[in-house]
Amino acid sequence: MQAVKESYLMNTYSRFPVKIVKGKGCYVWDDEGNKYLDFTSGIATCNLGHVPEPVKQALIEQLDNLWHCSNLYHIPSQEILASLLVENSCFDQVFFCNSGAEANEAAIKLARMYANQHKKSADIVTFTQSFHGRTLATLTATGQEKIQHGFAPLVPGFTYLPYNDMASLEQLRKLKPAAVLFEFVQGEGGVIPADKDWLRELAKICHSENILLIADEVQTGMGRTGELFAYEHYGIEPDVMTLAKGLGSGFPIGAMLAKKEVAEYFKPGTHGSTFGGNPLATTAGIATVKQFLETDLLISAQNQMELLKNKLIKLQSEFPWIKTVRGVGFLLGLEIDGEADKVVKLAIKEKTLILTAGPRVIRILPPLIATEAEIDLFIARLKTVLAAYEHESSKISGAK
Ligand SMILES: Cc1ncc(COP(=O)(O)O)c(C=O)c1O
Repeated sequence: MQAVKESYLMNTYSRFPVKIVKGKGCYVWDDEGNKYLDFTSGIATCNLGHVPEPVKQALIEQLDNLWHCSNLYHIPSQEILASLLVENSCFDQVFFCNSGAEANEAAIKLARMYANQHKKSADIVTFTQSFHGRTLATLTATGQEKIQHGFAPLVPGFTYLPYNDMASLEQLRKLKPAAVLFEFVQGEGGVIPADKDWLRELAKICHSENILLIADEVQTGMGRTGELFAYEHYGIEPDVMTLAKGLGSGFPIGAMLAKKEVAEYFKPGTHGSTFGGNPLATTAGIATVKQFLETDLLISAQNQMELLKNKLIKLQSEFPWIKTVRGVGFLLGLEIDGEADKVVKLAIKEKTLILTAGPRVIRILPPLIATEAEIDLFIARLKTVLAAYEHESSKISGAK
């Protein structure tokens, strides 16, 4: 690994000293030809693995036809992708954009438009430890001080409630906000799945008080949790859902889906984006969604998800400082009595990419195509990494 030289890029990321130049399936390669097992999927984005063949072929064809067209004209690939999403979800209409933050921004705008026209509070409730993006409205929606720090004044009209806390739901009835924006599994906030009873109660209150339920499925969507959309696990139907990350298999695209009664509040001129629904991006989206609809990808992924979780749970007896193994599908977290970033750095030495989710949580996001052999390889390498960390650290309580 080479030392990182001074860069002309703004210093917004603390990057690992690895230059990734190529990817295929569950693997990426650096500029020195080293091959890494990528169990980050580009942070839950390359759900079909790197450079998936069907998406690549669709993009190559589209490259010959049309790269960009303004939204002043009809774009056929937008219509096709919208119909695939609508016909396979509980939503009726779609707005396309370019990222998760933009999808949430669109949802916030739609909720405000809806509330203002109904002459009700335009406030939005979100949850502590949530993550919704880095635009001004979405970082305000994000219930983490460290993300908001330095950006005052924030956008007015956001209230934060504790996540998974039944007692505080009563406050919702009093607040009567325009909408509640939430994640089914708080990814960035520490891989914390929503409690089913809490979520059902939340949905019940929203429904009875005419509060819009907005599901941020930017990280949980597109098969990450074992269903195409995470809401399918919970038996509730949100009014609005946002997607990005996995929707384009790595090609930038975001989407905000809504039920008709809400979607109709967006009219010509109320919202837009030059690149939103770009022909290349929506072509990548179509090819991606078709993989879920036309192959047994999800069924085989569900088996591997169970396998990996069980193997991680087994590791707890060997490494008792793994306090919890949690998460849904291939959005998994190991809460450790140790420093997660140090483990992630050691994993790079073992040619394995994993992530953190806060200081004490290791986040594991394999591509949905990961095979049993790749899971075994991952577990073998993770064991080496955990043993090396144990060896390096004398501070871990309970370490052997
Ligand atoms: C749940 C959630 N919402 C929104 C975002 C923001 O997405 P983007 O980085 O594409 O703007 C993320 C990104 O990690 C996310 O995990």
